[in-house]
Amino acid sequence: MTSTTQVAASATPPASTPVFSVDGLWKVFGPKAGQIPGDPELAALAPAELRARTGCTAAVRDVSFDVRKGEVFVVMGLSGSGKSTLVRCLTRLIEPTSGTIAIDGEDVRAMDKGRLRELRRHRAAMVFQHFGLLPHRSVLDNVAYGLEIQGVGRSERRARAAEVVAKVGLDGMEQRRPAQLSGGQRQRVGLARALAVDPEVLLFDEPFSALDPLIRRDMQDEVVRLHQEEGRTMVFITHDLSEALKLGDRIALMRDGRVVQLGTPEEIVGSPADDYVREFVRDVPREQVLTVGSAMRPAADGEASAGPVVSPAATVSEAIDLVAAEGAPARVVDGDRCVGVVDADTLLGVVAKGDAGGGPSAGGRGPVAQSTAHPDTDGDGPSHDSGTDLPTTVPGPASDSPATGAAQAGTAAPRERGEAQPPAPRTSPEGV
Ligand SMILES: Nc1ncnc2c1ncn2[C@@H]1O[C@H](COP(=O)(O)OP(=O)(O)OP(=O)(O)O)[C@@H](O)[C@H]1O
Ligand SMILES: [Mg+2]
Repeated sequence: MTSTTQVAASATPPASTPVFSVDGLWKVFGPKAGQIPGDPELAALAPAELRARTGCTAAVRDVSFDVRKGEVFVVMGLSGSGKSTLVRCLTRLIEPTSGTIAIDGEDVRAMDKGRLRELRRHRAAMVFQHFGLLPHRSVLDNVAYGLEIQGVGRSERRARAAEVVAKVGLDGMEQRRPAQLSGGQRQRVGLARALAVDPEVLLFDEPFSALDPLIRRDMQDEVVRLHQEEGRTMVFITHDLSEALKLGDRIALMRDGRVVQLGTPEEIVGSPADDYVREFVRDVPREQVLTVGSAMRPAADGEASAGPVVSPAATVSEAIDLVAAEGAPARVVDGDRCVGVVDADTLLGVVAKGDAGGGPSAGGRGPVAQSTAHPDTDGDGPSHDSGTDLPTTVPGPASDSPATGAAQAGTAAPRERGEAQPPAPRTSPEGV
């Protein structure tokens, strides 16, 4: 983890500089919060004990990570694990207690008010769960809002807003008020408003959890599209494991304010760091996340030159379809080189290993963790620590079953699920 955070504001960062670099970040709510991070005894206490001894809640505890340019960085965890606090610390909508945060190498904690405003208005745009739309304004004027507060002239901002409205699939609805839109359409407006300022990074705090499952999937696909077509850097908060697996290039899994594992979906599902993570991912259909590259064995004599071909990036599930259809082991070919072989035994071994962890690989659904809103102040608001609860959000089986052709192309198997909650629009935008 880099500790180099002092770079002149105007300097162009080298290509390898992470968009966000977070090191040793703490956010403690409560009296004398600043004492906790520096006191090894207090810092090591479990949440309930810390609260009993000091009256403080450590919402974010010694968290370090980089967000790389162009990646979707997912932060996931149960309700109360510190996700919202963490993402709000990134632009200091919540003031961190200690640690460093840099954007493009520039120290965020050293920014003055003007620089912070510039950060929030131009560089890091936030999309909220409850949309944050202005009810008396049209779709177009809501989308143009961020440009308006940037001081962009009326005709230019309306032209740019119209472009973005079309991009998120809302053309024809420019003159409607938010109340005349469905929940999914409102969230598209929220997304369009964030996109209109063409930010370097989009921050999403559980943006789709108020949407019903089908609309949620559409919005997830929109995020995938923005990622693939525009290379947008995104930090995406969710407590939904399958959403995290679908969207994340990397996932930071939080528990009680700490990051317990940071890795690719394949690493999280294939090599859980501890029992907590193992329990979290227990019901994930492993064959739809793990890739052929991690399941293959060396090619035996003659195997490298015959048989169907599969990419190392194809999922095990796709390879199973292929091997079953062809009735023969498949060669794993990277470029023009055969790097291994998968047969029925190696592939089924991946599925069976998931079962060994306990329970069927595509099991039932548990109750979904509930979101709770908190004030952004440093007050002693109500706390709802997750304590030592085990995860309650479990993924369902994927509904897409990719064809063999997709396996050969090495495309990832998409999956989706969602939860229904009534949308609760706010009356004014947050953090803009
Ligand atoms: N202003 C505050 N004052 C005191 N405690 C707070 C405050 N804001 C959050 N907390 C506490 O910090 C912890 C983390 O809260 P946070 O909102 O970041 O969790 P979360 O992971 O986003 O949860 P959810 O999924 O419910 O949105 C919780 O224990 C919460 O009660
Ligand atoms: Mg939250």
